[in-house]
Amino acid sequence: MKSNPSIRELARAFSAGKQLEIGTKLPGPKGTRVMGVMGEFNRDALGFIERLQRDYGDIVWSRFLYVPALFLYHPNEIEYVLATNARNFVKAMTLRSNFFQRLVGNGLLTSEGEEWKRQRRMTSPAFHRHRIANYAETMINYTRRLTSMWAEGETRDMHGDMMRLTLEIVVRCLFNADVSNDVDDVGETLNRLVEPFAAQATLKWILNNRLPTPQHIKFHRLARKIDNVVYRIIAERRQGDDQGDLLSMLLKAQDEDGSRMSDQQLRDEVMTLFLAGHETTALVLSWAWYLLGSNPEVEKKFHAELDEVIGDRDPVFDDLPRLKFTEQIAKETMRLYPPAYGLGREAVTDCEIGGYRVPAGTQVFVFQWVTQRDPRFFDGPLAFNPDRWTEEFEAQLPKYAYFPFGGGPRACVGSSFAMMEMILVLATIGQKFRLELVPDHPIETYPAMSLRPKHGVKVVVRNRRD
Ligand code: HEM
Repeated sequence: MKSNPSIRELARAFSAGKQLEIGTKLPGPKGTRVMGVMGEFNRDALGFIERLQRDYGDIVWSRFLYVPALFLYHPNEIEYVLATNARNFVKAMTLRSNFFQRLVGNGLLTSEGEEWKRQRRMTSPAFHRHRIANYAETMINYTRRLTSMWAEGETRDMHGDMMRLTLEIVVRCLFNADVSNDVDDVGETLNRLVEPFAAQATLKWILNNRLPTPQHIKFHRLARKIDNVVYRIIAERRQGDDQGDLLSMLLKAQDEDGSRMSDQQLRDEVMTLFLAGHETTALVLSWAWYLLGSNPEVEKKFHAELDEVIGDRDPVFDDLPRLKFTEQIAKETMRLYPPAYGLGREAVTDCEIGGYRVPAGTQVFVFQWVTQRDPRFFDGPLAFNPDRWTEEFEAQLPKYAYFPFGGGPRACVGSSFAMMEMILVLATIGQKFRLELVPDHPIETYPAMSLRPKHGVKVVVRNRRD
């Protein structure tokens, strides 16, 4: 991974901003003289990125402090940046902040070039279709274990429950370790660790801020705490047998090409998968329970499918192809509430996007939150309508009008794992329970590192089988 932006990079970004300003007539808001649009973005990130498209169109130029930023809303340009011309882009500057580096270091999400290729080659087999079939049982068992503690009529926060569950599942499936004793601690620590990312464009993201403020001290203390758990898992595995899980594969692969992967490198991969693999999935599930609770007709159809396909027995992997409507629920939930609501890249060399010359150093942003709600591609874009996901609809949809898992070479490595997990968790819970939304509980989006329900999703548990 490139390290924190150096003075030279900052100067390059500044000069790219100047070139953009002088050389083209790209539409966009100027913002204030020093801060650019940072203030507006921080106040209401989702509202701001929606307004930009409404006011200026599909390609918008703006500036965070001295950093030039291009916002792209049309699938053609999104495809160009993520896929067709992906070679000319690295991850955005925001991913190179001290905070992010401390969190996931040089793992798969953040590394670049040859190092990324090698890591991706080594990690991908753990996510192949034949392999993830083995994970289905774990997903179902852990869900059963969670719901075995539920009682008719009790109130629960599904966001909290889903966060805990998906963390247990990812740790068990990929590292063959049971962290049930640690999981609340790890989950809570992870949650608090990503807090600094809530305000997307704060100065901290862009400047190399090493000041020992109380917030920084707390952040580093939490990071050390989680490192201890991760290093413990690694140490145990180094001494034990090959478990056939991801961690064993990473350990083995390093021996084959002669170079040893250090504990630090392993730790970065493990942290990356902890982080990338649990909150995202938990959020889709949390939003799905909210959407099902507020759309009784859809909920009815969901329950009917579960009764028909699974009935009273436990779900199994082979049920997946028949749980079509449940899959459509997951897809439609990710359209309306994409956990990754935006992605960022940085242009490595000058290039042309939509007829405009874009200088090296420009930060380019695309937003699932906006494009996936665009009425040009989705009828009744704000309605929760899982039925829209027919084969014909998908066949005519421009590829990058819907990209919850990103796209191109850096697309999510865990997308099949996540789809399977979402369907199985929804089915295992929905088979036995109806989750009634607590009336008047506020539901608000909170664009932290991923798109959270700010106050959780409070439900009353109802047994379906009584
Ligand atoms: C619904 C759940 C998920 C969503 C919405 C999601 C979304 C994404 C997106 C949008 C990216 C691309 C980021 C970019 O282009 O900058 C990505 C990358 C990644 N995701 Fe996921 N993800 C999910 C689940 C998972 C799971 C379950 C895992 C692993 C267990 C995982 C591991 C990763 C990794 C390692 C990358 C980096 C891949 C690379 O750069 O080669 N994700 N994810």
